[in-house]
Amino acid sequence: MTQNTADTGTVLITGAGRGLGRALADLYTATGFRVIACTRQGTDDAPPLDVADATSIAALGDHLASVPIDIVINNAAIRGDTGGLASLETDGFLEVVRINALAPLLVARALRSNLLAGRRRVLVNIGSRAGSLAEGTIDDEDGDYAYRCSKAALNMATVKLAQDFRSDGIAVLSLHPGWVKTNMGGAEAAVEVAESALGLKGLIDGATMAETGSFRAYDGRTVLW
Ligand SMILES: NC(=O)c1ccc[n+]([C@@H]2O[C@H](COP(=O)([O-])OP(=O)(O)OC[C@H]3O[C@@H](n4cnc5c(N)ncnc54)[C@H](OP(=O)(O)O)[C@@H]3O)[C@@H](O)[C@H]2O)c1
Repeated sequence: MTQNTADTGTVLITGAGRGLGRALADLYTATGFRVIACTRQGTDDAPPLDVADATSIAALGDHLASVPIDIVINNAAIRGDTGGLASLETDGFLEVVRINALAPLLVARALRSNLLAGRRRVLVNIGSRAGSLAEGTIDDEDGDYAYRCSKAALNMATVKLAQDFRSDGIAVLSLHPGWVKTNMGGAEAAVEVAESALGLKGLIDGATMAETGSFRAYDGRTVLW
């Protein structure tokens, strides 16, 4: 792990083994942050974290007790079934909601005291424009009910957490990474993962309490809820 410096700090990222989470972890490491890169397998620097498992999230909190963390990024997510209403089934739908909407709340609860002990105090939920009621279906008619509903729920989680954490001085953001070339986004996606990660990092590093409860895209654009 990289030593903290006055200009950097400690960032914890979920789902950091590949995709956008991995790119963010690499970027923060390159700029001198201590990175707690959480994966399902675990690493030398972070215990295993399965965000579908509330016990695993609580264990992460116990493991990190009293460790100051400046920035927490709830990034881990799954897409789920994209077949539309006809193929929607209960367990699959609930698994997507559990991972994409409930887990970030449990992570926020488990790591609140760590954020309070940090200097930056920023909690990020990686959301999606697909979960925007105002914009999500404008140019996109795919059938992924579970993903869209989970990301819409995550947006409300951001707004509620922003309200809850205001007195702690913890800023809570929903950030849309764009349509990114990862396993989830696919090869046809419009944005390179490094470009998305760089844009997100800029927004995160510049975040103050003035931005708490907001929904922005990687390029700085405000996304309508
Ligand atoms: N790519 C896009 O176009 C796009 C667009 C809008 C929003 N987003 C959001 O951006 C974030 C990153 O997505 P991505 O494109 O990088 O997706 P990805 O390539 O599919 O990576 C997903 C990450 O989440 C982790 N994950 C999934 N379930 C987990 C669990 N139960 N416990 C712990 N980790 C778990 C995966 O770990 P494993 O390797 O262990 O599976 C992986 O590291 C997500 O929140 C996604 O919804 C992406």
